Amino acid sequence: MTSRPEVTSPPEVTHRPEVVHRIDEVRDRVARARAARAADPAGAIVLVPTMGALHAGHLAHVERARQSAALVVVSIFVNPLQFGANEDLDRYPRTLDADLAALAGVGADLVFAPSVEEMYPDGPSSTRVTGGPVAGTFEGASRPGHFDGMLTVVAKLLAIVAPDVVSFGQKDAQQVFLVRRMVRDLDIPVRVQVVDTVREPDGLALSSRNRYLGEPERRAAVALSAALAAAGRAATAGVQAAIAAAHAVLDAERLVELDYFAVVDPGTFLPVTDDHRGAAQALIAARLGTTRLIDNATIQVAPGDTRS
Ligand code: PAF
Repeated sequence: MTSRPEVTSPPEVTHRPEVVHRIDEVRDRVARARAARAADPAGAIVLVPTMGALHAGHLAHVERARQSAALVVVSIFVNPLQFGANEDLDRYPRTLDADLAALAGVGADLVFAPSVEEMYPDGPSSTRVTGGPVAGTFEGASRPGHFDGMLTVVAKLLAIVAPDVVSFGQKDAQQVFLVRRMVRDLDIPVRVQVVDTVREPDGLALSSRNRYLGEPERRAAVALSAALAAAGRAATAGVQAAIAAAHAVLDAERLVELDYFAVVDPGTFLPVTDDHRGAAQALIAARLGTTRLIDNATIQVAPGDTRS
């Protein structure tokens, strides 16, 4: 697991991003950047899609993009299509001013912050991108329709901005898998760049939802990354040993209400069989009070002793 301390003091302001709210404006701005790219032909146009409430994990995308991009575009849009009826759409944090200040510190060039009406002028789009069976498992099982809504808005953002590179965070492993597959299946000309999960010093993955955790839940939340780490260590004895080690950590923390812990094949996102060897993705989702958190880690499964 990649660990990096959270940014505790605001970075120095170096570069105030331009903010546009309309699709024609962002298209025009990107077209101008493309035309001007003669001076920097290697520089890519990079899109970082977000729902705002930015934290150091999001800023890491911009910092990474900044290294090679001619233009870094950050979209900020809380996409209603990916929230279920009983989910936190209304209480999802909307913090545009703070987001712009944070982005100024890491050198984003352009922020695209459309309204819901701009993105869905006729109400929720009747055309949807569907992610197939994988979109109904794990996060998709707990949040029916979530991934179709997410894929639909990502497809729209890719059509609007037409970036060379789009940046996603490894924390949402299933999202990364489905976006990669959509890009491949629909021949979308973009490279998907994946940025490592940024963590608090105790291992908790940064998430916009961490702000909802009360103090006891915040302390208990470390059990998610601890369970993944325990699984990683135990994986030298096989898949079942890894799963048992994770459950031992989780069972000891009464505030963690486990939704799922699973080990999947990174190539298919299907649960691995007991004889799996090599790299696998351990996934976890749990509720702490009313807050649902997810995390994942790559583990290396070595041969266990399967003789009886
Ligand atoms: O990961 C997110 O924040 C969202 O799912 C995304 C990719 C911005 C689409 O709304």
